Amino acid sequence: MTTLITGGTGFTGSFLARHLTKTTNEDLILFDYIINEKRIHDLKDNSRVKIIQGNLSSWSEITKLSDSSQGIDNIFHFGSLMPPFTETSTETAFQVNIQGTFNILEFAHLSGASNVFYASSAAVYSPGVDLPITEKSYREPLTMYGVGKVCSEVMGVYYRRRKNINFLTLRFPAIIGPGRSGAGMTIYANNIIQFPAQGMKAICNVEPDITIPILYIKDVTRLLGSLLEHEDINEPAYNLDGFWVSAQELAHLVQKEIPEAVIEYEPDSELSILLRFLSMMEGDDALVRKDLEFNPIYTPEKLVKDFILEVQRNPNYKV
Ligand SMILES: NC(=O)c1ccc[n+]([C@@H]2O[C@H](COP(=O)([O-])OP(=O)(O)OC[C@H]3O[C@@H](n4cnc5c(N)ncnc54)[C@H](O)[C@@H]3O)[C@@H](O)[C@H]2O)c1
Repeated sequence: MTTLITGGTGFTGSFLARHLTKTTNEDLILFDYIINEKRIHDLKDNSRVKIIQGNLSSWSEITKLSDSSQGIDNIFHFGSLMPPFTETSTETAFQVNIQGTFNILEFAHLSGASNVFYASSAAVYSPGVDLPITEKSYREPLTMYGVGKVCSEVMGVYYRRRKNINFLTLRFPAIIGPGRSGAGMTIYANNIIQFPAQGMKAICNVEPDITIPILYIKDVTRLLGSLLEHEDINEPAYNLDGFWVSAQELAHLVQKEIPEAVIEYEPDSELSILLRFLSMMEGDDALVRKDLEFNPIYTPEKLVKDFILEVQRNPNYKV
């Protein structure tokens, strides 16, 4: 069987690809606009891994996937433009995050793929929603990034109902881990650990008390990998919660491991407002724990220790 990962050389995509080469016999196609060589240094020469450069928003580039000799059965759709770019370039955000999802769904339909697993986000919700948030809660995003997620989810449900594609949405909180870089509203939580682990000063661009749920990439990868084994997933969407931790608590955990770590705060007021909303949004993840037997094991303490060790022993995780 062949599994396609869009955004396959990105942070989550590359961790999942590595996991699947170790735990399954799947052939993998990593489709990405910008190929991140460092993240896939150990996968490039694997005969089961094919890398295809292309733009999700262009149908002619998606058809590069049809040239692939093997039929694609599973698709993890992770390719996405992230905030703040989605908020300043709304048209490109539309093309990549909405048109791009339509293209992938249409490709799945035309090529006979069985499963599309979609990485959505807690950013589909906004303040005012009844708490705790469940899969049934009303989605009314504050950002263009969140709009892209809701549109993609709704299109996916249409393909699930009308075109016989098993479309599944997972709504993630902040996912952090070695080598995550670049954009995303929650990148500060990564930077607090990543930079001190590299012997550098970390600048945190939110206020110290901002508290959000986080999951470690290793727990997320384990969950994603397990989706290929579940034959009877009945729900179209699952919400994930995570371990709730403030920027300051994370910083203290880092300083326990690296006493000389320097972490300074230079809060961006607009970002802090958006994240303060997120910090009010208590979630209920009972369904994913029950149906998919998801039980994250990386508490913030364990996560920080493991993250630092990984960065210190693997130069490819440096940013
Ligand atoms: N990291 C998180 O905290 C988090 C939380 C919730 C949801 N998600 C979702 O998970 C997915 C993966 O996120 P990530 O953290 O690995 O981000 P990432 O930025 O590392 O990965 C996204 C990938 O998409 C690729 N991409 C962007 N535009 C493209 C285009 N036009 N065509 C093809 N590929 C394109 C990028 O090159 C990148 O490799 C995204 O959909 C993201 O919205 C992430």
